Amino acid sequence: MAEIQTIRAGLVGITGYAGMELARLLAGHPNMRLVMACSRAEAGRRLGEYYPFLEKLPGADVVISVFDAEAAVKQCDVVFLAVPAGTAMKMTPALVEGGVRVVDFSADFRLHDVHVYEEWYRLPHEAPALLPEAVYGLPELNANSVRRARLVANPGCYPTSIILGLYAPLMGGLIEPDGIIADSKSGATGAGRKPGTATLFSEVADTFRAYGLPRHRHTPEIEQEVSAIAGQEVRLSFTPHLVPMNRGILSTIYTRLKKPGTTVEEVYEVCRETWKDSPWVRVLAPGRLPETRFVRGSMFCDIGLVADPRTGRLIILSVIDNLCRGAAGQALANANLMCGMPVDAGLSDSAPLV
Ligand SMILES: NC(=O)c1ccc[n+]([C@@H]2O[C@H](COP(=O)([O-])OP(=O)(O)OC[C@H]3O[C@@H](n4cnc5c(N)ncnc54)[C@H](OP(=O)(O)O)[C@@H]3O)[C@@H](O)[C@H]2O)c1
Repeated sequence: MAEIQTIRAGLVGITGYAGMELARLLAGHPNMRLVMACSRAEAGRRLGEYYPFLEKLPGADVVISVFDAEAAVKQCDVVFLAVPAGTAMKMTPALVEGGVRVVDFSADFRLHDVHVYEEWYRLPHEAPALLPEAVYGLPELNANSVRRARLVANPGCYPTSIILGLYAPLMGGLIEPDGIIADSKSGATGAGRKPGTATLFSEVADTFRAYGLPRHRHTPEIEQEVSAIAGQEVRLSFTPHLVPMNRGILSTIYTRLKKPGTTVEEVYEVCRETWKDSPWVRVLAPGRLPETRFVRGSMFCDIGLVADPRTGRLIILSVIDNLCRGAAGQALANANLMCGMPVDAGLSDSAPLV
């Protein structure tokens, strides 16, 4: 059997929550090593010193540096951009042109239509020429395109939970594509690690609030992907909430059944069949509901189903971990595919329960 070469990985945004999670995952990867880690504020520090959890693990001796595209092209086979939207698109062209595979965590390459990006992110796009080739990296749906891609747009965390939740009932023709309401709750790490009043302990603990209404930036991304699945243009309502927990997303998705008398067992059969070969999508038996703690730190997406004949609704509950499945783990799955490895290399751990 041919020996698998070790893939050299660069990570820009090492000090953020998504970067921290990816450093954790890379330390346990059998064939990928962190060789470059970038931050402007912490440049010069040894990673094992900055992140004590990494000491004595692979990656600990990497010294944090300021991003330099030329150095990245020399040192890396794949670069993860765990930086804010608007920053990634400045870094990507030189990397792609230099032959490095890029997985971008931000929204910069998720939206196919540059005008939609500019309207919702209120930024001029600086690399629109790369938009047509960027692949939306949801591995369950787009694995073949991801394998061939030079640039993968890693999906947003809320969109991941909502698209995976809706996929099987929509594809199975069980629900109407219009009138969908996605009501989502996220832990505070979803807002990133950059300090701000809104994420202070006293502002998050012991309270519960919605935000970003009615134009949260994930809305056009969800609509773009759900429209592609439904085969028609879909408009939906998306309401995100912040809950006092560190990590995890629970999306409660209200839909209308095409046939109001459809039973939950019928929907369950369609969903179970759709996801039977997926390593990570788990459809819960009727009567069971998902919880964030059962997917913590993992790639799992747990889906619960409730059919309500009184209202003719199918309520879908979809749960993921925002940092692993919704960011770093999904990015690693995409990089695995781009580098010719099994999609779940370094990602097979189950979730810690408490
Ligand atoms: N948190 C989540 O749950 C989540 C989920 C899905 C996707 N994402 C996406 O992942 C990306 C990172 O999110 P995060 O939550 O990890 O953010 P974060 O905690 O705020 O970290 C951002 C990182 O990017 C670096 N950075 C910021 N501005 C930069 C610039 N102009 N040039 C170079 N580096 C810069 C920061 O380091 P320095 O300032 O020291 O350079 C830091 O390491 C974002 O695009 C976010 O939307 C996050």
